[in-house]
Amino acid sequence: MKAVAKAHTNIALIKYWGKRNDELILPMNNSLSLTLDHFYTTTEVQFDEALQTDTFIFNGETASDSESAKISSYLDRIRQFAGVQMYAAVRSVNHVPTSAGFASSASGFAALAAASTKALGLDLDRKTLSILARQGSGSACRSVFGGFAEWEKGSRTDGSDSYAVPIMSKTEWDVRVLSVLLESNEKPISSRKGMKRTVETSPFYSGWLEAVDHELKEIKTAIRTKDFERLGKVAEANALKMHATMLGSHPPFTYWQSSTMAVMEEVQHLRDKGIQAYYTIDAGPNVKILCLPEDEQKIRDELENLEMVKGIYGCRPGPGIEYKEKLPSLGDSPSPSDG
Ligand code: ADP
Ligand code: DP6
Repeated sequence: MKAVAKAHTNIALIKYWGKRNDELILPMNNSLSLTLDHFYTTTEVQFDEALQTDTFIFNGETASDSESAKISSYLDRIRQFAGVQMYAAVRSVNHVPTSAGFASSASGFAALAAASTKALGLDLDRKTLSILARQGSGSACRSVFGGFAEWEKGSRTDGSDSYAVPIMSKTEWDVRVLSVLLESNEKPISSRKGMKRTVETSPFYSGWLEAVDHELKEIKTAIRTKDFERLGKVAEANALKMHATMLGSHPPFTYWQSSTMAVMEEVQHLRDKGIQAYYTIDAGPNVKILCLPEDEQKIRDELENLEMVKGIYGCRPGPGIEYKEKLPSLGDSPSPSDG
């Protein structure tokens, strides 16, 4: 009753921002992402009749009570789904900064959904796995698939039609994402809280919803035709719209810092010089830059001159869920800053 699964993070190019159902994690809009090879989570789950409670070891240490409670309540959903009552021992290693806007919740819950169901002997299709991952963290449903994936919001109240579908496999288009680390501290407002406040209080939220369907069509055409400029422009515009909704919230908030804006400006300078680079930003201060392989080094060279840049992680399109034999020992798991 033990299984190990590995899942990668994803970067949304059309963002998920806002829920219509908090409990089931049902979104207000479709979103579309690229799974990244560099950042991932590996999780081992072992169900055992002898356990008196769930346990959670995170990055080699016993997790805090609040983190353990989140895992336990997620496992309750899995137990209910599978019709079992056993507790589980969970061990997970993040090869991604946690709670810093690098989407650890996406890789974390995708890996947990896959490992826990496999440990219970369930052989689930990817759609069902995506539905289960979604209930841990919305963006996790997209990490079930490699390459480009779209999360279809669905319309049913039970969430049975709200899951991700693959759009283009990881080998079909070699676009690159440079994840620029500016700040690795835990963000003060989680994405969950940030999006809730936005939906409830921002007068700009209706504008976000009005724009997103067109942007989604536009980006799907860009992917199908491998039109990088079109892809970059729409992804950047979509991220700016999402962040604009937060400024209209009550109380207002932003994830940007002065360093965030400095990198955004640098990307504009790069474009002025003829380099194809576009940025996107999630619920955190760090910036992700989309580019083509031939421009990656030039962009790195420019960014390395900026004092506020603490790290640059080069990502390629990554795979979907993979099952493994065992959890890597902490020493075998390189830190995200390697490579
Ligand atoms: P991030 O930008 O890292 O996604 P969030 O605040 O959205 O930040 O999500 C962080 C949360 O994701 C953690 O508090 C935890 O609940 C969950 N998470 C992160 N890593 C894991 C993991 N390996 N296993 C299970 N849950 C995880
Ligand atoms: C800005 O998936 O972390 O990264 O569903 O509440 O767990 P919950 O939120 P989460 O939010 C992701 C928000 C985002 C955009 C995106 O990934 O689509």
